[in-house]
Amino acid sequence: MAAEAPVNAAVGNGVPPPPFELPYPEKAETITSNVLKLANLVPNERFKFITKNLLTHLHQFVSETRCSSVSSYHQLADINPACISITTEEWMTAIQFLTRTGQTCSPIRQEFILFSDVLGVSALVDALNNPAVNGATESSVLGPFFTEDAPDVAEGGSIASEGKGDYMYVEGRILSTDGTPIPNAIIETWETDGHGNYDVQYAGREKADCRGRLRSGPDGKYTYRAVVPVAYPIPGDGPVGELLVALGRHNMRPNHLHLMVEAPGHQKLVTSLYPEGDEWLASDAVFGVKKSLVVPLKEVNDDEEAKKRGFPKGGSFKLLTRDIVLVPTEESKRAREDFAVHRAKNAAAAL
Ligand code: BEZ
Ligand code: FE
Repeated sequence: MAAEAPVNAAVGNGVPPPPFELPYPEKAETITSNVLKLANLVPNERFKFITKNLLTHLHQFVSETRCSSVSSYHQLADINPACISITTEEWMTAIQFLTRTGQTCSPIRQEFILFSDVLGVSALVDALNNPAVNGATESSVLGPFFTEDAPDVAEGGSIASEGKGDYMYVEGRILSTDGTPIPNAIIETWETDGHGNYDVQYAGREKADCRGRLRSGPDGKYTYRAVVPVAYPIPGDGPVGELLVALGRHNMRPNHLHLMVEAPGHQKLVTSLYPEGDEWLASDAVFGVKKSLVVPLKEVNDDEEAKKRGFPKGGSFKLLTRDIVLVPTEESKRAREDFAVHRAKNAAAAL
């Protein structure tokens, strides 16, 4: 009777051994050079470039992360050798952190994005890929609270159900960089309620609240009723929350109104507006605030005006007025290319 094949038969992935010799790693440096030589086999050029750069920095980080007490080479002779690189225990702590980060992810929670956010990497990738274009509205982080189920809201309609917070009226125009109004742009907008919670943070959420989808009018105008958003903590009950505590950092975001605007022939914009005066503006936990996105909220203390604008209880409301300026696709592509060249020139000049 033929022997049954073992469940985990010793079959590799079909890739042959490398067509060159790799020296046995007698020294730590040889491990790095062997790994980099193997990276030369990556078939896709861009992926090869990214892989080599990542491995170079990662190996350098591991081998050169010394005790903070070692500030100069002449001190090296006096120190504990275990202290001249990342220790085995430190690397295991990092692996356990990443493991818990993955385990915390679920269909409704993305702890890795949060990790990228608090490290400033999300904001950095955004800044490098969406350079500011003269006069255009700048971008800001998307965050994890956008949902696809926002209801369509008519001009002047409300994105928040009654009682969700203090009244705020939002108005402005969607424009192109040359000042031309953009009609029919799709505006997705979402925010916290007056308790600093997004609707998805409530157990048993049945429908969307404090979010809506609008279209700009023929003159580019958009107007809607909302509530004054409230500063809130980003999720603090997972590994990223623990990390912030270990780093001695708070986990607050200043209050803000999210906007995502799309119009044909223009670069999609993901941004937020940050009402001025919030105590967390200058130290946003996820580095999303840009000066140009800080907006005044005007207090309108006029019962009649509040009722005219559709606020059922009347009284007073806050007025947020802001035009949103989109960049035509071609202009945005050119700006990205110019920015890349500018950065490359600066990097070359610094060598
Ligand atoms: C937010 O603004 O919704 C957000 C952004 C990044 C991380 C957490 C929340
Ligand atoms: Fe937010």
